[in-house]
Amino acid sequence: MTILAIETSCDETSAAVIRTPSLNGEDVVGPTLEIVSNVVSSQAELHRKWGGIVPEAAARAHVEAILPVIEEAVAPLSESRGKGFSPNPEWNGMGREGIEAVAVTNRPGLVGALSVGLSAAKALAFAWKVPLVGIHHLEGHILSPLAVRPDLRFPHLSLVVSGGHTELVEVRAAGEHRIVGQTRDDAAGEAFDKGARLLGLGYPGGRAIQEAAIGGDPRRYKLPQGLAGETSDFSFSGLKTAIRRLVEAEADSLCITDAAASIQEAIASVLAERAVRAAERSGFKALTLVGGVAANTSLREKLAIECSRLGIDFVVPPVELCTDNAAMIGIAASFRLYRGERDGWELDVYANAALPGGDER
Ligand code: KG4
Ligand code: ZN
Repeated sequence: MTILAIETSCDETSAAVIRTPSLNGEDVVGPTLEIVSNVVSSQAELHRKWGGIVPEAAARAHVEAILPVIEEAVAPLSESRGKGFSPNPEWNGMGREGIEAVAVTNRPGLVGALSVGLSAAKALAFAWKVPLVGIHHLEGHILSPLAVRPDLRFPHLSLVVSGGHTELVEVRAAGEHRIVGQTRDDAAGEAFDKGARLLGLGYPGGRAIQEAAIGGDPRRYKLPQGLAGETSDFSFSGLKTAIRRLVEAEADSLCITDAAASIQEAIASVLAERAVRAAERSGFKALTLVGGVAANTSLREKLAIECSRLGIDFVVPPVELCTDNAAMIGIAASFRLYRGERDGWELDVYANAALPGGDER
C-alpha cells in the first residue's frame, strides 16, 4: 500500500510517501517497509527571534508550506531524492494517482497547526477517493524505529522524549501501550530548551546545548537529576531553577561550554539510567529511543553502552526520523489501515490526547 502522510503538529511542516508492499499481518510491518520520500520544512528560523514557538505564527507558516511540501513529497523529481531517507532507486515518477490512503497527525499538538495538516489531508483524501486515517503524534514516534529495524518485535520498551513528552512506554503491539513512567513537570526537550535560553544559546535548545557542550566538562557544575530513589518517573523543573541560580551566581565567570555539558549530562544520565532499569525490570529484550531528544548524541551513546553491557537490543532511528517528520506517521498509519481502520470526514484535532490503546496510570 502506498500512503501519503502529513505532519504539522508543531513547527515542522512534513509530508512523506511510504510504501508497505507486504504487510505480514502479525506484529511487524515487514522487511519491505520503504520510505519513498520524507520532506521536512522547519520553521525554526521563524521562531528563533521569539525564543520559542508562537502558535499563531506556526499555523500561518504551515498554511504557506503545506502544499509545496506535499507536492515535493509526491513529485517524481523531488529534492528529497538522494538527500532524504532511503529513497527508492526505482522511483520512476509515481504521482498522486499512486496514493492509496492519506494519513495525518490529528493529536496532540498545537490546534491551529494541526488543523492545517488535517484540512489538507481531508481535502486530498476526498478528492482522490481514498481512506483517511488520523494518527496520534507519539504513536508515530514510537513506531519510527521500524523504518530501520522492520524486524523489531513487540512487546518492547520505548523511551519517548520530545519537546512536549517524556514517557517510558511498554509497546505491547502497534497501537497498544502502557505508560510505566513519565515526567511530573517539564518534558526533557523543554528542559534542554529552557537551559539553552538561560545560557543565551537560543532556540531550538537541544541541538544548541549539544553543540555548545562539545569539549566541555560534564562534572564541572553540579546539577540536580530530579526524583531520587526507585521510580520510573522524571522531574526536570528543579534543574531549570538550578540553572537559573548557577547563571546568576557565576555571572561573567560562567563557562558556557562546561555549563552546557553539565546540563546535557544531568538530563541524559537520568533518562538513560531510568530507561535501562525499566527495561531490565520488564524483561523485554529491546529498548527504543524516540522523539526529538533522541537526536542527542550523548543520550544515544549512554543507552547504547548500557544496553550492550546488559544484552538489551537498543534501537534508535537516524536523527532525521527522531525529530518531527511525516514518515513516522505513515508507518503508524500502515498498521491502522492493515486492521481495516479509517476515519470519517468529521475527524477533529486535539491539543491533548492519551496514547491510543493505553492504560493511563
Ligand atoms: O519530537 P520533536 O521534534 O517535537 C515535539 O514533538 O515536541 O522534539 C523537539 C524537541 C525540542 O525540545 C528540541 O530541543 C529537542 O527535541 N531536540 C534535542 C536535540 N534535537 C532536538 N534535544 C537534545 N539534543 C538534540 N540534539
Ligand atoms: Zn514530536
